[in-house]
Amino acid sequence: MEQFKGQPRLPKFASPKRYDIRLKPDLATCKFSGSVAIDLDIVSKTKFIVLNAADLSIQKETVSFTHKAFSSYLRPAPGRTSPVLGSAPSSSSTILSLFPSAVLNYLWQWWQRLWTWFFSFPTLERFRTKVFEPCKIDLVGEDEILVLEFPETLPTGIGVLAIDFDGILNDKMKGFYRSTYKHNGEKKNMAVTQFEPVDARRCFPCWDEPACKATFKISLDVPADLVALSNMPMVDEKVEGHVKTVFYQESPIMSTYLVAVVIGLFDYVEDHTSDGVKVRVYCQVGKQNQGKFALNVAVKTLEFYREYFAVPYSLPKLDMIAIPDFAYGAMENYGLVTYRETALLYDEQHSAAANKQRVTIVVTHELAHQWFGNLVTMEWWTHLWLNEGFATWVSYLAADRLFPEWESWTQFLQESVEGLRLDELAESHPIEVEINPAGEISEIFDAISYRKGASVIRMLQSYLGAECFQRSLAAYIKRHACSNAKTEDLWTALEEGSGEPVNKLMNSWTKQKGYPVVSVKINDNKLEFEQSQFLLSGSHGDGQWIVPIIFCCGSYDACQSFLLETKSASIDLEENEAWIKVNVDQTGFYRVKYDEDLQAELSYAIETKMLSATDRFGILDDSFALCMARQQSLTSLLTLMAAYGEELDCTVLSNLISISYKIARIAADATPELVDSIRHFFIILFQHSAEKLGWEAKAGESHLDAMLRGQILTALAEFGDEPTLREASRRFHAFLNDRSTPLLSPDIRKAAYVAVMQTVNASNRSGFESLLRVYRETDLSQEKTRILESLASCPDPNIILEVLGFILSSEVRSQDAVSGLAVCWEGRETAWNWLKENWEYIAKTWGSGVLIRRFVSSIVSPFASFEKAREVEDFFATRSQSSIARTLKQSIERVNINAHWVQSIQNEENFAETVDELLYGKS
Ligand code: BES
Ligand code: ZN
Repeated sequence: MEQFKGQPRLPKFASPKRYDIRLKPDLATCKFSGSVAIDLDIVSKTKFIVLNAADLSIQKETVSFTHKAFSSYLRPAPGRTSPVLGSAPSSSSTILSLFPSAVLNYLWQWWQRLWTWFFSFPTLERFRTKVFEPCKIDLVGEDEILVLEFPETLPTGIGVLAIDFDGILNDKMKGFYRSTYKHNGEKKNMAVTQFEPVDARRCFPCWDEPACKATFKISLDVPADLVALSNMPMVDEKVEGHVKTVFYQESPIMSTYLVAVVIGLFDYVEDHTSDGVKVRVYCQVGKQNQGKFALNVAVKTLEFYREYFAVPYSLPKLDMIAIPDFAYGAMENYGLVTYRETALLYDEQHSAAANKQRVTIVVTHELAHQWFGNLVTMEWWTHLWLNEGFATWVSYLAADRLFPEWESWTQFLQESVEGLRLDELAESHPIEVEINPAGEISEIFDAISYRKGASVIRMLQSYLGAECFQRSLAAYIKRHACSNAKTEDLWTALEEGSGEPVNKLMNSWTKQKGYPVVSVKINDNKLEFEQSQFLLSGSHGDGQWIVPIIFCCGSYDACQSFLLETKSASIDLEENEAWIKVNVDQTGFYRVKYDEDLQAELSYAIETKMLSATDRFGILDDSFALCMARQQSLTSLLTLMAAYGEELDCTVLSNLISISYKIARIAADATPELVDSIRHFFIILFQHSAEKLGWEAKAGESHLDAMLRGQILTALAEFGDEPTLREASRRFHAFLNDRSTPLLSPDIRKAAYVAVMQTVNASNRSGFESLLRVYRETDLSQEKTRILESLASCPDPNIILEVLGFILSSEVRSQDAVSGLAVCWEGRETAWNWLKENWEYIAKTWGSGVLIRRFVSSIVSPFASFEKAREVEDFFATRSQSSIARTLKQSIERVNINAHWVQSIQNEENFAETVDELLYGKS
């Protein structure tokens, strides 16, 4: 018994093949009961069966294991395989490769069963069944395991483990939980599952590991008037009075974390793909029009992936459903994808262009998982990035196909940058990370797995070429369909497809943390490259990478590429006076540090509009990171930023804005006397694009302009631009009188709300009160989110405290509270004190999910002093828990980095003069 405690994985002597699950939720009392019968293959003789279970009460008298000798049909006797197909069919055989491997595998299993059954027939002995009852049943809370000990050894072969149990429909947005909604003014409960990463065990006892794949036959006892959905289509329904029992088709083999059930009141819209997959979007009653956009995206995306992966979608239907209380953006449950409302519903009148894009990216991401994740599943959480990094990358590929005018690959750089920003901390982690206690798993759903993961895939695709990459991926999917894979398996497929040493190349990116900065200079007509690990703390790490370098001189027609495999390399240059851009198109996951002359040439090339948007983006972002790492002065960064005065690209400007926010904040700490001038400089910098875009949409304008307008106006409001504040106030009042006024389109609403909050203070609260009124009146989640994101930008700490109180109130769903944490510089001390005072409640409410990390990072990271870093450390010394351990270390590291940055800015000579010159030169 003791030997099973404290183990990262379940023992391997029993393997589940099929689950028959029946669940009966009671939506009034928020309890459920259930029973499960699991076909198990006992692989080696044992007295123990060990599986996962948590927060369930097991009805001990119901637990039994029935050994079914005859049912060894699932596993051929050792050494006896069918004569026709000696081993599992492989897709390399030409005729068989015409069939999708899911179908082949299925046929293969049945063939095996028949064959073995036939041979076992004469031995009557084999038909005897024997029931074993456990002598000891132990639910080990810390390890979330259920240990069954039997008085005698269980024979190998197939048997059925039966267990009845009870549980609670919790309010923690995980396991089998309740979400609430209003119907005809009445508050109601729905029942929903969220199992990834390790919460299926909170709904039914199971082998809750991604590699323990089995088939699932689910049935539900539910109120007759409700909609009940699961992964597979319904096959039968029996109504008795007010209760109906719904039976679903048995699923193909899949992991427990992808099982799903939803029971509630919903409307839907429906469509079909060209190959007959029935697709539905379910939403709150009366909101079905808001599901149409996502439905259309889903149908097109399924068709695209079918072609791209060269394997059709593997289930007969796909349901997508909006859940009012949802911890994440969305979850890719096989055939029943769950979403938070903001990520699925699009309202023609009240949603913004940014919402449209978000819905698209979330849908394309989750549908990618139906192949990458659901059909081919990671072998263990160490390979989580295969799921998330890949889905993130391919979601942009699909978005680019559906909406080419969105320039998705330029926008993708925002993902890369988030990966770079996390991976430049000493407290980062490798993409492939060892996972031990289950509590650690949720911490790796972070920018490393998603964004760095997606970026290194993009880097590899660009190195190998799109066509070869796709071909090799399709081979990988076919080879591992209905099974599991590790990172190496993907590399092997790509290596076979390309003939390149992919494994060696990629190991340097996935097995070590961090990334390089490549320093470039010209010496003696040679271009010299040297790599070293880039760390924001300013120190150099000792990592080394195989870096695919692409660079060009003076023109995009003359690109050169090579692999930088050692610390340094040099390349002969022809006589050269022109600009040199390294990491062309920003497909590489690294930064570039140019010597002063090269940097000046690039600055000039930006001003004279010689460079692509992606390159302008990269030059700016690298320069910002180098400045923060104290390898470049703030003076030179601001000078470079001035070269972006005529910038109009949405992605470049969006990064320029977020960098300017960070500079304004650090300047408030480092040089308070210059803050106003610096803010003024930024207002001037954004004037050109603000004038071009105006406040109202132009007829036929692009999606990108619509998105940009809101961001530019928000920035002007945040920097206190008077005309912007006045105009925002005028439009906001028109909106208060008429929620459909053309004066405040959804794209500029957040800007107006931020502007309103800039002028609110304890004695002038009307703007704040009005926003709360809009919040209370709207039933559109995106509107509520916009308001929450704006409230804490108010510079009055008293109001900030009220806002923070509001986000903990029952008026804000716990899924949304973190949206209210965007606290301005003036409010950070108030927010920190509030966090300390409310920590117990916050830890209790959000402690078991991923949202708790946001409380820590949003409130701690903005500080910029060594004392504060110590204070935070002291506070959490007795309060840390595994789900925030890494985030806490990263946030404290950021505070120390900021503190160093402040010191170096204070030591910069001529900084004040530069700011003056920039202002004088521009005004
Ligand atoms: N598999 C995840 C959902 C998830 C996240 C489960 C963390 C458990 C822990 C899903 O595919 C996902 O990645 N969702 C993202 C949205 C996506 C568009 C990046 C999310 O929820 O933010
Ligand atoms: Zn995902």
